[in-house]
Amino acid sequence: MLDHWIAELWRLGVLAAAGLIVGIFSDHIALGLLIAVAIHLSYHLYRLYCLDQWLRLHRNAEPPEIGGVWEDVYHAIYKLQQRSRSHKRRLATLLSRFREATSAMPDATVVLKQHGEIEWFNSAASRLLNLDAHDVDHRVDSFIRHPDFIAYLRQREYAQPLVLPSPTDNQVTLLIHVVPYGDNQRLLIARDITHVQRLEQIRRDFIANASHELRTPLTVIMGFLETMVDGNDECARQWARSLQLMQEQTERMQLIVQHLLLLSRLETDNGTHRRESVSVPAMLAAIQEEAVLLSGDQHHDIQLECDNTLWLRGNAEELRSALSNLVFNAVQYTPPQGVIRVRWYGDVTGAHFAVADTGIGIPAHHIPRLTERFYRVDAARSREVGGTGLGLAIVKHVLQRHEAKLRIESVVDQGSTFSCDFPASLVVRKNL
Ligand SMILES: Nc1ncnc2c1ncn2[C@@H]1O[C@H](COP(=O)(O)OP(=O)(O)OP(=O)(O)O)[C@@H](O)[C@H]1O
Ligand SMILES: [Mg+2]
Repeated sequence: MLDHWIAELWRLGVLAAAGLIVGIFSDHIALGLLIAVAIHLSYHLYRLYCLDQWLRLHRNAEPPEIGGVWEDVYHAIYKLQQRSRSHKRRLATLLSRFREATSAMPDATVVLKQHGEIEWFNSAASRLLNLDAHDVDHRVDSFIRHPDFIAYLRQREYAQPLVLPSPTDNQVTLLIHVVPYGDNQRLLIARDITHVQRLEQIRRDFIANASHELRTPLTVIMGFLETMVDGNDECARQWARSLQLMQEQTERMQLIVQHLLLLSRLETDNGTHRRESVSVPAMLAAIQEEAVLLSGDQHHDIQLECDNTLWLRGNAEELRSALSNLVFNAVQYTPPQGVIRVRWYGDVTGAHFAVADTGIGIPAHHIPRLTERFYRVDAARSREVGGTGLGLAIVKHVLQRHEAKLRIESVVDQGSTFSCDFPASLVVRKNL
């Protein structure tokens, strides 16, 4: 390459020398030199023109073999072009592979532009959402018109997915998730969860039916047991201990059935229509009295700090079962003479209920699973205190239905605090 530049300089030198000699002989040195430079310049202008033509018309052809610095320039440009061409090819292959992969996905995938216009979608989207090529550039909410979806799309944070009937077939249920990415773009993913929902419904129905069917036989057994216990003959006396145990276990089974039925009801109806103004202070005073009775000769110190003006919009029966469960747990899992502090207070974020005890505490790894049905840290101890392991599952459902959150903090052998945070929208202030 350097050789070509040296040769080019030589060529310029020879031309200038020729111009000089002609100039000396003709007595016009400057003119001779000017003509030499003009010849050199014209040659390069011509080459520049050829390069321009080649770039415009024969860009993909091999560079011409013209030698010198211009051949180097042609080759450099040709190489650059080839590199960018292979780069483009690689990008195109990558893009088509990505499209093939997303097209093969069973979930509907739709790329949305800034205002929700459809930019691209895969074949599952045409099937599940009934989209076709004409729908590109149209807003997605003109195809999925459900009000919940319109509200969901309008928000800017999509922490939770949305469950909706399919816009094309209301027997099909879709789970819709929107993921923001890049520069104001969003990815909409819809999954057919009809099958999962059906299984969930079968599970719910099974538990509700089984619990319901068990109620009558249990009542009959309980009735006969009571008659036998009350009997005054030799047989009743002989079997007294066994009958008492049978009665205790039957009561336990009745409690389990009752809790399972309550859970089924909490799961199936949304209950928001049965909201009323609930006097939580009066409810807590009653629960405190019941807790004292439950504590009996264990003499727990049960304290209640309560804002009497703070009421809540909700379902009284459900709230009573959730709050009492938390207070009774504190009594059941705190050794005699322990302190149980119940608080009910409000602030700008809403209303808060907290039960702190000085009880046995819960090891940290159990805490995330406590609200699962029948989950108990120590099943033997729970059974001893008559627990069914369903209490916190009921608490979780009741709180969900009141848009509230449960927080659990605990230190083993020191105590636990169960808190419920209710939103400000449910707070009712009463003047005393
Ligand atoms: N305050 C507490 N201190 C220590 N452990 C607790 C406390 N509250 C709950 N637990 C643990 O969490 C488990 C689940 O509680 P949950 O209320 O759901 O069931 P339970 O009390 O066993 O039965 P029930 O359905 O009658 O309430 C309990 O078995 C116990 O191990
Ligand atoms: Mg309990």
